[in-house]
Amino acid sequence: MKISVITVFPELYRAFIKTSLIARAIENKLIELNLVRFSDMCEPKDRIDTPTCGPGSGMVLKPKVIAKAIGHCEEQYGPGYKIFFSPQGENLNQKQLRKFADSVLQKELTVKTNENMKFSDEDIHIILVCARYEGIDERVEQYYADSIFSIGDYVLMGGDLPAQVFLEGFLRYIPRVVGKKESVEKDSFSGPFFDYPQYGLPVEWNGIKIPQIVQSGNHESIEQWRIATACKKTLRYRFDWVRQSFLSQDEKKTCKSNIPNHYVALMHSDVVVRGNNGGHTSVTSLDLHDIARSSATYGVENVFMVTELEDQRSIMQEFLNFWLSKKGIEYNSSRFEAVKKVIPIKSFEKVKLFIKEKDGAEPIIITTSAKQYGYAKAIDYFSQGKVWECNRPILFVFGTGQGLNEKILKQSDYLLGPIYGFPNYNHLSVRSAVAVILDRWFGLNSRLDFMDK
Ligand SMILES: C[S@@+](CC[C@H](N)C(=O)[O-])C[C@H]1O[C@@H](n2cnc3c(N)ncnc32)[C@H](O)[C@@H]1O
Repeated sequence: MKISVITVFPELYRAFIKTSLIARAIENKLIELNLVRFSDMCEPKDRIDTPTCGPGSGMVLKPKVIAKAIGHCEEQYGPGYKIFFSPQGENLNQKQLRKFADSVLQKELTVKTNENMKFSDEDIHIILVCARYEGIDERVEQYYADSIFSIGDYVLMGGDLPAQVFLEGFLRYIPRVVGKKESVEKDSFSGPFFDYPQYGLPVEWNGIKIPQIVQSGNHESIEQWRIATACKKTLRYRFDWVRQSFLSQDEKKTCKSNIPNHYVALMHSDVVVRGNNGGHTSVTSLDLHDIARSSATYGVENVFMVTELEDQRSIMQEFLNFWLSKKGIEYNSSRFEAVKKVIPIKSFEKVKLFIKEKDGAEPIIITTSAKQYGYAKAIDYFSQGKVWECNRPILFVFGTGQGLNEKILKQSDYLLGPIYGFPNYNHLSVRSAVAVILDRWFGLNSRLDFMDK
């Protein structure tokens, strides 16, 4: 495989190509690396860059210099698959690296400037174009780029580190570049969970011991421990990755057992009603059904319908009795599955007590509000990992009427901000708010390209 790297600074690759596995891959003739300097592609005294057009300062590489450099590489090694690097490109991840490596190995790369071209065994040619300054003239990418990759949401001074990052990531998938194929396959981001924690001797270092189970020699228990530990760590730091991955039934179960129990309370007492802080609202069958079904979808343990008014609790119990009866179960068993988790209850205190008795710990209380109040620490929908780490049950509390009163808000550990779209309208029904919040909090949303597992 030939890899051409077009760069302003070939010297940045000096150590890179002479060290470690890359050097060995070159030595073993698995790859041939061809460094091309942009300034060698223009007349002496001519510049490789030109000021950007329009207001604003900055320079871009001249299109004709890039075209000449690409032409030069293709003359030497034949048509190449051209990769540009830009913070505006597709985010490079493990899946993409593997996909790219698979296409290389199966010679399925299509080159934009020569769509009929097929690479043969010897002539895989990849061209990496590394810009600097303000980047690349938009037309050059438009014309040449077969892929544009970003290595993260930050801006570097040039495309050389991205090119090296790409090479290290991609070449690990090329047979014989890395010694052990299994180690690549089990790495972080190859599946929904990180790699498991690794330990080497000595058994005790700085007072910290290798976990007993790892020393046990029991392969099955070690394997289970590794999966659970990797799952827990990924949930803590990269729930975004877990939720966009495709999860098998077993992986879903592992996640569920590593996430603390969640509960939902819908307050019909201790809410503000027409300015009255101690007001009560009526229960509705629509809320009961919809909140129960949303909660069942996301794996909430119980839904508490909280009202001090006995007649309201008995109305609710009557609704429930039907769905919990033989007739109700026969009529719609999936409704029964959801509704059986609903508990009419007298007060918020009793909710907390119930959870404490069931889970052995006080719940972390997360209130939600259509407006922002200063009662608790604000939390966003990206911080669930941090909350889960506390290993305590979590209770989401929703208000009816004009919202939760001070008494409840003051007890919250966290306050989730309002739900907004682009317009300023902010009047969701409570059952819709529950569905949106539960989905934002732990809804799974696999990316299509993660589903081909
Ligand atoms: C200073 S940057 C230009 C940034 C550009 N003005 C922008 O804001 O999108 C110069 C070059 O560095 C490379 N580069 C910088 N950050 C990158 C990233 N996160 N991923 C890939 N390439 C990057 C690209 O080749 C880019 O054209």
